[in-house]
Amino acid sequence: MKVEDIKNIAVIGSGTMGHGIAQIAATAGYNVTMVDVNNEILARAIEKIKWSLEKLAEKRRIKPEDVSLILSRIKTTTRLEDAAESADVAIEAIPEKIELKKELFARLDQLASKHAILATNTSSLSITEISRSTSRPDKIVGMHFFNPPQLMSLCEVIKGQFTSDETLSITAELAKKMGKTVIICKKDVRGFIVNRVLGAVFNEVFWTVYRKESTIEEVDASVKYKAGFPMGIFELADYVGLDVLANVAKVMYEAYGERMKPCPLATSLLNEGKLGQKTSQGFYDWSIGRPRIKFTLAGKYDINRVYTVAVNEAAWLIHEDVADPVDIDTGMKLGAGWPSGPCELGDRLGLDVVLGKLRDMYSKYGEEMYRPCPLLEDYVGKGRLGKKTGQGFYIYK
Ligand code: 3HC
Repeated sequence: MKVEDIKNIAVIGSGTMGHGIAQIAATAGYNVTMVDVNNEILARAIEKIKWSLEKLAEKRRIKPEDVSLILSRIKTTTRLEDAAESADVAIEAIPEKIELKKELFARLDQLASKHAILATNTSSLSITEISRSTSRPDKIVGMHFFNPPQLMSLCEVIKGQFTSDETLSITAELAKKMGKTVIICKKDVRGFIVNRVLGAVFNEVFWTVYRKESTIEEVDASVKYKAGFPMGIFELADYVGLDVLANVAKVMYEAYGERMKPCPLATSLLNEGKLGQKTSQGFYDWSIGRPRIKFTLAGKYDINRVYTVAVNEAAWLIHEDVADPVDIDTGMKLGAGWPSGPCELGDRLGLDVVLGKLRDMYSKYGEEMYRPCPLLEDYVGKGRLGKKTGQGFYIYK
């Protein structure tokens, strides 16, 4: 199959990610069939797509007459076979439970035609394990979009152990046709690229607040107004969903052990069903809209701490040959809206400075999350300190 042969896309799951993916696929001209367990959920998803398209038309990002055209390309069904049988590509966006995903992929494998690529939008689960439930592991691939998929212009394409080069390249081309910049995650590691860096950052700020060294508002004001992040980190946690984050954190802890030790800061909120924006309550009260983060608190949390753990995690990704510096930086800029990527930041700050700060944090807290990556030690040992020496993660002429 070539990317030009793709006409029909099945999207399974119509939640936050699923309906967004269906929308961008239809916007790119594909016939989309969106599947979910009942018609009420599907009707709500269509309402959200309509709202989003109208908003994009209001901002002149699409033509007003395209709203109904794009909507007309999206069909809905509760019967998987109705979507799977005609699909050239299926994109799964159901809850993050490995058993559910394996069951779904086994069914998709039976229903879809032989040429169809089956992609998963999983945040952190193993593409390889999912592929083992099918008879076409070469055609199973990760296609990881970012919330909200309509606005975040990144797609991570992930190679599972058995994914063929052909599947990988068709999927990357398809994501580009859907308007995304693609980064390739070369290994099927938990958290892929962006969630690895975000995971390190979430852990740092969660533990800092848990230790009562800073408040939620101080962290958020500092990263928003000093670092220029589009949202505070706790605001982002609420936006993504505390349940979603807890799932990712669990998978990361299983994979990386103490280095990704989850913090119990959100446990009581989770127990009370306060999951963030979608339930109106989380770290913030969303019933009156986005939280208003006070500018006066900016600087009360040291943003270099966030930079330091982000640079260290980027170093781990390079050390493990998961991604290149340019893909990591692109990932954080387009997937999370950061003004600079961690490799660029590290080179600007000085890798010796970053390493020094990590060593201080490691000796102060004794926590594995602050242990410097050997690659960083190696670079600094060789005098690759960043921009000031002409070489760090990047080479400067
Ligand atoms: N479709 C169309 N328009 C939308 C929209 C959607 N789905 N969602 C929001 N908008 C609109 C808003 O209504 C608003 O319109 P208005 O100006 O008329 O009020 C406009 O977009 C801008 O929104 P805001 O003013 O509220 O906010 P921002 O300017 O900050 O932009 C944002 C919103 C793009 C979400 C930005 O805050 C951002 O980039 N945040 C970071 C998001 C992020 O990091 N995402 C990745 C999370 S991790 C992930 O998804 C991985 C997973 O595996 C966990």
